[in-house]
Amino acid sequence: MKIAVIGTGNVGGILGARWSEVGHEVTFGTRDPASPKVKSLLKLTENKARAASVLDAVSSSEVMVLATPLKAARDAIAVAGDLIGKILVDCTNPIGEGPDGKTMGAGKSAGEQVAEWARGARVVKAFNTTGSNNMADPAYGDHKATMFICGDDTAAKAVVSKLAAELGFEVCDGGRLSTARLLESLAMLWIHLAYSQGLGREIAIALLKR
Ligand SMILES: NC(=O)c1ccc[n+]([C@@H]2O[C@H](COP(=O)([O-])OP(=O)(O)OC[C@H]3O[C@@H](n4cnc5c(N)ncnc54)[C@H](OP(=O)(O)O)[C@@H]3O)[C@@H](O)[C@H]2O)c1
Repeated sequence: MKIAVIGTGNVGGILGARWSEVGHEVTFGTRDPASPKVKSLLKLTENKARAASVLDAVSSSEVMVLATPLKAARDAIAVAGDLIGKILVDCTNPIGEGPDGKTMGAGKSAGEQVAEWARGARVVKAFNTTGSNNMADPAYGDHKATMFICGDDTAAKAVVSKLAAELGFEVCDGGRLSTARLLESLAMLWIHLAYSQGLGREIAIALLKR
């Protein structure tokens, strides 16, 4: 599958490198495709992935993965071109937003805000509820970390579920895009446990079933 990963930081770098490793055609959409940071990221993928402008990456791909800070998301979406019918995976969290610094306020989630900016895109919220270290390796002994996703387009969610499973996650569909606020709260819980509660980043949330 052709995947445009927008953002070459912790999340974008790891997701792009791993999908490239399992055989997807990854293009990093970046503000500076020639930067030393981007060059070393491409080297990490044994130059299987490539780098381009956000517009070129998105227009040549079936899936756009938004892995920028939420503050930069509107600008990244604005330069991404026509998104009608495109699957957009929103990894962002509303860190530093809203009155408590953790929500968009007024009941709106980052996922729903992204969907408003990206008119016509099939938005799936995913890869926001756990640390990028778990995206690199979701295995905890015999257990797999759970990747919670949500969105309004069933076919788009099936594609994203497969992309998450290929990285080693157990996938849980949380329902419609309006569930994004719960996924973003779950991300805040993970961050709180890792940093404020001192558990560190080598923790993951898994759903048990019987
Ligand atoms: N870090 C985690 O463990 C984690 C886990 C889950 C979700 N998230 C969420 O995922 C998103 C990305 O997190 P991250 O940790 O990967 O962030 P990061 O390391 O800061 O990387 C963000 C990337 O976004 C790109 N970008 C585009 N426009 C930008 C702008 N105006 N200002 C700054 N960067 C810009 C940059 O790539 P270029 O320089 O190549 O353009 C940058 O490398 C955030 O919304 C975060 O809340 C993070």
